[in-house]
Amino acid sequence: MALLEIDNLAVDFVSDTGRVRVVDGVSLRLEAGRTLCLVGESGSGKSVTALSIARLLQTPPAVYAGGEIRLDGRNVFTLNQRELCAVRGGMVGYVFQEPAASLNPVMRVGRQIEESLLLHRPGCDPGQEVIRLLKLCGIPAPELRARDFPFQLSGGMQQRVMIAMALAAQPRLLLADEPTTALDVTIQAQILDLLRDLQRQLGMAILLITHNLAIVDGMSDDMAVMYAGQIVELGPTAAVLRNPLHPYTAALIQSVPRLQVGARRLTAIPGTVPQPGQYSAGCRFYPRCPQARPPCDTQPPELREVAPGRWVRSWYVAGEESGVVP
Ligand SMILES: Nc1ncnc2c1ncn2[C@@H]1O[C@H](COP(=O)(O)OP(=O)(O)O)[C@@H](O)[C@H]1O
Ligand SMILES: [Mg+2]
Repeated sequence: MALLEIDNLAVDFVSDTGRVRVVDGVSLRLEAGRTLCLVGESGSGKSVTALSIARLLQTPPAVYAGGEIRLDGRNVFTLNQRELCAVRGGMVGYVFQEPAASLNPVMRVGRQIEESLLLHRPGCDPGQEVIRLLKLCGIPAPELRARDFPFQLSGGMQQRVMIAMALAAQPRLLLADEPTTALDVTIQAQILDLLRDLQRQLGMAILLITHNLAIVDGMSDDMAVMYAGQIVELGPTAAVLRNPLHPYTAALIQSVPRLQVGARRLTAIPGTVPQPGQYSAGCRFYPRCPQARPPCDTQPPELREVAPGRWVRSWYVAGEESGVVP
């Protein structure tokens, strides 16, 4: 049994204009101590998937329309309020893109971490533990920084505080949703190093969400590529990056400078992610796909295992016709 098991998750949003499915049949597994990257362009349903894990979406407008999410074998959709509280900020820690938006601007950061400690670890010495957590997250002079207000810290330091706050409850699963998107490249690399270190020390599982494929390399064991609410490719990160099988994954990789060995040109993927409810009748990537052919326009492809551990949702799989899929 994996720590996190998502089976066939469906999430809808309702509005005046109707009901649309934004996450459509997503299934994922994440073992303790492992990292899974969830990638895909903006709007593909990554955050909605992550927020569903601790049932953090507001319902309505969101509707959990189908599927199961199990944490340590327990379906989160059957938990009561008390159990859900133990999951949120207990078993599961969240780190979001904008630390400034998640921190309380009028409370010293040490105090904010203490609040989480008092809630989830009543037995510990909060003063000492705050300092230990700040130090663990690579914050210099933690005794002084604990007394700072968020605005006194740089973006990178704020993100370290957010991570310290998430760690306060000793989560077994850390959900990091675009944790470095708002930071400049150097600081981004430092935060990713920190996450890697923390995982090694603490043995947490990490679900790392990003629209930036360049940070996936070396960060994760496995990766899942989302497009228009569905997983379109899933497999071991090194294999997927070296040999993408879905045309969308290949196009994403083509658009990242660092991942292209010896290439001179950067190819942006033409077109945009379709809005939920406005998908093509066949494959959702069909209108943008360089490999499109019948029946791509009329028949939606299923996610299938085309080689051991390699899952692809496409009628066209790189190498399949010539029989050289790895
Ligand atoms: N609160 C909401 N109300 C209505 N639609 C939403 C809401 N949150 C997200 N969506 C829609 O769900 C889809 C997936 O969004 P999201 O999971 O945030 O994408 P990603 O994280 O991959 O960029 C998008 O089309 C978005 O507009
Ligand atoms: Mg998002």
